Amino acid sequence: MAPSPLRILLVDDDPTILESVSGLLARHGQDVVRTGSGLRAARYLADERFDLVVVDLMLPDYHGLDLARKAVSLPDTVVVVVSGTTSVELVIETMRLGIMDFIPKPFRVAELEAALVRALERAAAHREARRSMEEEDLTPGEVIIGNSPAIQDLRALLRRVAPSGSTVLITGPSGTGKELVARTLHRLSPRRGGPFVAIHCGAIPENLLEDELFGHVRGAFTDASSDRLGRFQQANGGTLFLDEIGTMPMGLQVKLLRVLQEREVSPLGSPRVARVDIRVVAATNEDLLQLVAQKGFREDLFYRLNVLPIHLLPLRDHASDIPILVSHFVRRFSRQLQLPPKLVDPAVLRRLEQYTWPGNVRELENVVERAMALGTSPDRLALQDLPPEISGLPDTGHEYTLPARTDLDEFLGSVERRLIREALSECHGNKSEASRRLGMRRTTLLHRLKVLGIEDVNPVGGNP
Ligand SMILES: Nc1ncnc2c1ncn2[C@@H]1O[C@H](COP(=O)(O)OP(=O)(O)OP(=O)(O)O)[C@@H](O)[C@H]1O
Ligand SMILES: [Mg+2]
Repeated sequence: MAPSPLRILLVDDDPTILESVSGLLARHGQDVVRTGSGLRAARYLADERFDLVVVDLMLPDYHGLDLARKAVSLPDTVVVVVSGTTSVELVIETMRLGIMDFIPKPFRVAELEAALVRALERAAAHREARRSMEEEDLTPGEVIIGNSPAIQDLRALLRRVAPSGSTVLITGPSGTGKELVARTLHRLSPRRGGPFVAIHCGAIPENLLEDELFGHVRGAFTDASSDRLGRFQQANGGTLFLDEIGTMPMGLQVKLLRVLQEREVSPLGSPRVARVDIRVVAATNEDLLQLVAQKGFREDLFYRLNVLPIHLLPLRDHASDIPILVSHFVRRFSRQLQLPPKLVDPAVLRRLEQYTWPGNVRELENVVERAMALGTSPDRLALQDLPPEISGLPDTGHEYTLPARTDLDEFLGSVERRLIREALSECHGNKSEASRRLGMRRTTLLHRLKVLGIEDVNPVGGNP
């Protein structure tokens, strides 16, 4: 059966180009809507779905760049720009939007055809991905958003590895979507009907973690008044997500290794072993190999976990996804906050694209949420709705700001700095312990150390 045609929107004010390009696309069996008006094109984009948009930059009634930006921000829409512009700046700005291709005019037909065939292939792949997501019935908020090659490769990889029961190790900096990826793996796997059990190894005190994982039987210790099923057994038939695996204490690492090898657990105080049928997905934002070298992580466990490695990139390395992520979050928060969806000013988008995002997608999500909730205009997201370090505006935007706002920040910073230093020195520089003492996650502590510019408190006896 031939695949159903892709829907293509073709925008150019030159009728000969409209004619030749749409003829070419029609010969490839596609369904082409064509217009010479940018305004009409913008309306089409708002009302209908297109798999591919081919747009000219110089339109009489609309800024082509804005049109291209609109199209790029639509989920799974491939955008190709055709333009006779000779402005290098404009070309660069266009490329940065995350379009797939830029075809300079005048072009040779063969050249154009080759570019369009590539774009059609990409669009068909998107449609496939969307279909399989829809079939998997992924709830929004659990969908991995992005059109960059990095995210497309990620989606393809997840589809490939999800069906197997092999152990997966997800690595990547904080806020890059490791947990989202773990959940997606579960949803795409044959285990989707079973439980997804997550355990944040860094958040549970060492002495409780073993009980948490393995459980116990009544009477195993003084407080054990009843049986308690550990997470391994809770995850039976499903997926066990071991988050922040790098913080797992050495003693437990041996026990985890044994579970991975034997697929059996024995709850504390129980004479019997129970078989568990689980898929293990682990995640970390630490460099486990370096931890291995420092004797903070067992090498044999590392290789047991690292069967299928998935590495997530920092957001600045796939910055072309920022517009589509922004529109995704804007839609989500307008639903959640019951506000009309706001239009994002192009200047806002430019700033968001230029910022380095040390906190990655989570930070972007927080920035959009804050801007949606506190923004001053009912229908637009404006520059002053962004935090000053992103907007570049002086930090005086709010009428109600305390006069001593900067002093307050400085003051709070100095208090925080002192508390963190104290905790670190009390824990001899051991960051995992210090983070527990401060009631924050280790990743948060590491981030605060960087933000506050606290240099390393000398660890005593290694194990930083
Ligand atoms: N590609 C993406 N598309 C949509 N949402 C994303 C994407 N990547 C991350 N997110 C969202 O960003 C937030 C942070 O993601 P997540 O919690 O999975 O990150 P993480 O890598 O586990 O971070 P940490 O190391 O700090 O635990 C979540 O709300 C997640 O849904
Ligand atoms: Mg996480």
